[in-house]
Amino acid sequence: MKALITGGAGFVGSHLAEVLLADGHRVHVVDDLSTGSIDNIVPFKAHREFHYEIGAVTDVPLMTDLVDEADVIFHLAAVVGVKLAVERPVETLETNLNGTGVLLKLAGRKKKRVLIASTSEVYGDGPDQPLREDAPVLLYPTVKSRWSYAWSKAIDESLAMAHWTQRGLPVIVARLFNTVGPRQTGRYGMVIPRLVHQALAGEPLTIYGDGAQSRCFAYVGDVARGLADLALCPEAAGQIFNVGNDQEVTINDLARRIIRATGSSSPVTHLPYGQVYGEGFEDMRRRVPDLTKIRRAVGYRTTKDLDDIIRMVADHARRG
Ligand SMILES: NC(=O)c1ccc[n+]([C@@H]2O[C@H](COP(=O)([O-])OP(=O)(O)OC[C@H]3O[C@@H](n4cnc5c(N)ncnc54)[C@H](O)[C@@H]3O)[C@@H](O)[C@H]2O)c1
Repeated sequence: MKALITGGAGFVGSHLAEVLLADGHRVHVVDDLSTGSIDNIVPFKAHREFHYEIGAVTDVPLMTDLVDEADVIFHLAAVVGVKLAVERPVETLETNLNGTGVLLKLAGRKKKRVLIASTSEVYGDGPDQPLREDAPVLLYPTVKSRWSYAWSKAIDESLAMAHWTQRGLPVIVARLFNTVGPRQTGRYGMVIPRLVHQALAGEPLTIYGDGAQSRCFAYVGDVARGLADLALCPEAAGQIFNVGNDQEVTINDLARRIIRATGSSSPVTHLPYGQVYGEGFEDMRRRVPDLTKIRRAVGYRTTKDLDDIIRMVADHARRG
């Protein structure tokens, strides 16, 4: 199989490239390096079946050739996460909407199989946890830039599904929940690399909010395996799948476990959301995926628990 990964020099994309190469597939990556890095692809850059282009997913001539060559496309290129959504809502919306628009249009010409990476953010603060794929997508006021990421991904999903229902394009939507592991940068606010960095530096671990909010953290290698398997599952076309881990932890407990795993003597402090992201910032209290659907479809399973993941992230951070 010839796979194209947009955003393949990013965190999840680079792990997905590794999984696909190990499975014997050919991998072509396109990435504009806006948040990704060449360092992420160094481990397999010299692999015979690996190729990459530095470029934007909205570059139609470039993408036309890359999409034509591919058997399957994993569309991961995006402006990712809450911090960038708050600070750069225009880029978040433009990159995510225009990139997905170009990609689906090009894939549609030759009916190429496409997996679109979406996010658990589209569930908003859904009351019925664990969250199933048929739960309502909750959208929030457009005046709050914090929600621009969720809006962009919800519309990406809707456009993908429209290509499936109206034109028969085999699309799969994967809603990733918090995905963590080596190579994830803490620069854009992602909590585990940020707190691990603080613990290793002997700085206070800064928790946003009261820390009683909980999340479920999945190992990136498990998520990448799930994405690769979904893309090859014929019955997955036209469907939406949660991908993640369903073990829930509060952020206060996460900080304690990071301190224990790193042997740090850092204290823990709490910062009000308003101080970090501006007044009126809202976040979800819980976000637990129901993984029944992906388990049934592709036998998805998780192989690492949170303490394993923290150790791997800390080892990676220590190596610099
Ligand atoms: N990591 C998570 O916890 C998580 C959770 C939910 C969803 N996701 C989704 O998974 C995907 C990958 O996220 P990630 O965590 O690896 O983030 P990331 O920032 O590491 O990866 C995104 C990659 O896309 C590239 N990119 C951005 N705009 C581009 C453009 N216009 N053209 C080409 N490349 C571009 C970036 O340089 C980066 O390498 C994203 O679509 C994201 O929304 C991730």
